[in-house]
Amino acid sequence: TGLVTMDSGYGNTAAYKSAITYLDGEKGILRYRGYPIEQLAERGSFLESAYLLIHGELPTATQLDDFREEISRHTLLHEDVKRFFDGFPRDAHPMAMLSSVVSALSTFYQDSHNPFDERQVHLSTIRLLAKLPTIAAYAYKKSIGQPLLYPDNSLGFIENFLMMTFAVPSERFEADPVVVDALDKLLILHADHEQNCSTSTVRLVGSSQANLFASISAGINALWGPLHGGANAEVLEMLERIRNDGGDVDAFLNKVKNKEDGVRLMGFGHRVYKNFDPRAKIIKTAADDVLGKLGVKDELLEIALKLEERALADDYFVERKLYPNVDFYSGLIYRAMGFPTNAFTVLFAIGRLPGWIAHWREMIASGSRIGRPRQVYVGEEQRDYVPLDQR
Ligand code: CMC
Repeated sequence: TGLVTMDSGYGNTAAYKSAITYLDGEKGILRYRGYPIEQLAERGSFLESAYLLIHGELPTATQLDDFREEISRHTLLHEDVKRFFDGFPRDAHPMAMLSSVVSALSTFYQDSHNPFDERQVHLSTIRLLAKLPTIAAYAYKKSIGQPLLYPDNSLGFIENFLMMTFAVPSERFEADPVVVDALDKLLILHADHEQNCSTSTVRLVGSSQANLFASISAGINALWGPLHGGANAEVLEMLERIRNDGGDVDAFLNKVKNKEDGVRLMGFGHRVYKNFDPRAKIIKTAADDVLGKLGVKDELLEIALKLEERALADDYFVERKLYPNVDFYSGLIYRAMGFPTNAFTVLFAIGRLPGWIAHWREMIASGSRIGRPRQVYVGEEQRDYVPLDQR
């Protein structure tokens, strides 16, 4: 075709200029707005990183207080939105509930449809950050048949989410500080990752000037897939399968290497990181720490450690530069916290939300063109219509 270049999976095409996240796959560097992920995860909070990603600078103490306060005033869902959960089947996947409800939010907020109105964008940003944890908690409550609990805005952002998820009306609930800290850290580590599949989806949908709710809902659906955010749940299912088959790690790795039934080592490999994933390093330490502090002995952790060790010493993985990614250990931590496997990707979505919002806003502010990839046509040449009775 002359004019277009084939770039399968956009492995080598930059569609945007962005000032949000810097990533060096060779050196294993990840920075939000210039700040190393290690420092943000060690010393900051999730809402602080969210503010940083969205507004470009770390907040002052007053700005952070105001941000927290404003978010806490928007955590309630409209009673009619709450009733959606009556309509979903009990075994509905939480990611489907999450994306549907987020999409439906635009029907409740008529003041959310103009991407160029700064006030509207600000309100939609706050509403999304505030309501996604409530929606996530309700999706979980629905699946186990417990009552949906109202948010308690005297609690912190993470505590409130844990309360709505795990509390029951008849019992006093207090979130374990170990769980609060670990979840906060995990959300920071997931908060942005430049032009990944879901973020690119948010940008592509938003590039048509669709509103923020519509764009984020699309991002949630993109994240759901097993090669992207869904990998954290797949890792756990893989570890369980290995355990149920007698714990033979080598037999499983042979299956992966022979590409039997397309089996992959989930939680390994990354399009950009080719030496190590800096998030995986932090998460591995956190997994040890959290499981230790919570007194959880998990045989799946043993299997994971063994898998990692064997894979890192195996030519197949070395040659292809496959290393553990952010999802390899995160599921073990979520499991120790009490989350069911199908909620893991929902937690990823809560974490990634500030990144999606920041990218959508950056794109709108820069006046980007509509996203519209080209193709290399490989179909039939022109041919003549054949009437139905002659086919
Ligand atoms: N297990 C076994 N082989 C693999 C794996 C894996 N996890 N990942 C890549 N390969 C092989 C692949 O078969 C190919 O080998 P060959 O040339 O012999 O066919 C080679 O490595 C290159 O793979 P690719 O599919 O071209 O690489 P990609 O950049 O398109 O895919 C990936 C990146 C993350 C989708 C892939 O590594 C993968 O499927 N990993 C497992 C799923 C996973 O953990 N995803 C989470 C990614 S991090 C968080 C997130 O983004 O959500």
